[in-house]
Amino acid sequence: MIELQNVSKHYPLEAGFFARQDARVYAVNGVSLRIEPGEIYGLVGESGCGKTTTARLLVRMEHLTAGEIRFRNRDGEEFLYSRLDRRSLRRVRSNVRYVFQDPARSLNPRLTIRDVLLSGYRYSPRWPGTAQAEGEARRLMQEVGLRVEDLDRRPADFSGGQRQRISIARSLITRPEVLICDEVVSALDVSIQGQILNLLLQLREEHKLTMIFIAHDLAVVGYVSDRIGVMYRGVLVEEAPAPDLLRQRHHPYTRYLFEALPVLGDRWNRQVSVPAFAESADPTVFPVSSADQLMMTEVSPGHRVSAAFTRSAGVEPA
Ligand SMILES: Nc1ncnc2c1ncn2[C@@H]1O[C@H](COP(=O)(O)OP(=O)(O)OP(=O)(O)O)[C@@H](O)[C@H]1O
Ligand SMILES: [Mg+2]
Repeated sequence: MIELQNVSKHYPLEAGFFARQDARVYAVNGVSLRIEPGEIYGLVGESGCGKTTTARLLVRMEHLTAGEIRFRNRDGEEFLYSRLDRRSLRRVRSNVRYVFQDPARSLNPRLTIRDVLLSGYRYSPRWPGTAQAEGEARRLMQEVGLRVEDLDRRPADFSGGQRQRISIARSLITRPEVLICDEVVSALDVSIQGQILNLLLQLREEHKLTMIFIAHDLAVVGYVSDRIGVMYRGVLVEEAPAPDLLRQRHHPYTRYLFEALPVLGDRWNRQVSVPAFAESADPTVFPVSSADQLMMTEVSPGHRVSAAFTRSAGVEPA
């Protein structure tokens, strides 16, 4: 449904006193992966590893530095991200929707919930008419566990978890095929996190959604994902079906992530922060060759491991 081929996004480094002209931030570097229809693909990795940049590329809020992204919709039409005209850009954006981390900032406090939900149509190539839009808004309120009467209230009247439900409803109003959830539960209490994750799982069934679920918390990603991709410093270092990765890890960074997570079964009862894995987390230092970064070995069906960073961590590739 979505395919990334050698996708990179480099940013010029802010001009500082010592900055070289050609200095770059390698936010995403040579990532290749495929997302199948109906699956939940989890992207996990520490802060700054390139998860949000990947998500922004997928909704074309950013242009690719290199590589290609393809999206194939339900009707079998294919869109190439490097060559989208305005019309196909709108069609991609109404089909591939992005739910942001912070509902407090992404919901305009002056709007009623009704207007928030209807603002989702901004990304749609076509307005369905007032009556139908109102019907959709009411239906979605119930689906995300809110009351229809609340359509006339404003974001400030709701809790963090409820606001995240509103953001999810807004994203679904164009009936997208793909939902990208970027740290949608990170700002919430652990007890509320579980409710929102279960809601997403339920909506996936009802709406036949394909999801890309981004989080730095492995327990959260492991709970919802069918497959998991581990990112480290802009590179996809390991990818596997979720149960497979729970059984066996090959890349040293993945092993490290799991070690930082003491009890997986006890997922709603712990707070873990992941310290820097390598000696240097400077995003402008990129010590592996592009050949390493692109080379992934398949160690078992669907389980791929990158050669990138394995040697610098003193470990041979799997
Ligand atoms: N517009 C930009 N200009 C320059 N550098 C950027 C820009 N956006 C992101 N970066 C850099 O790219 C790298 C990846 O950032 P990104 O936001 O994708 O990480 P992330 O994995 O989502 O992190 P977090 O878990 O903190 O959300 C970081 O080093 C970040 O500072
Ligand atoms: Mg992010």
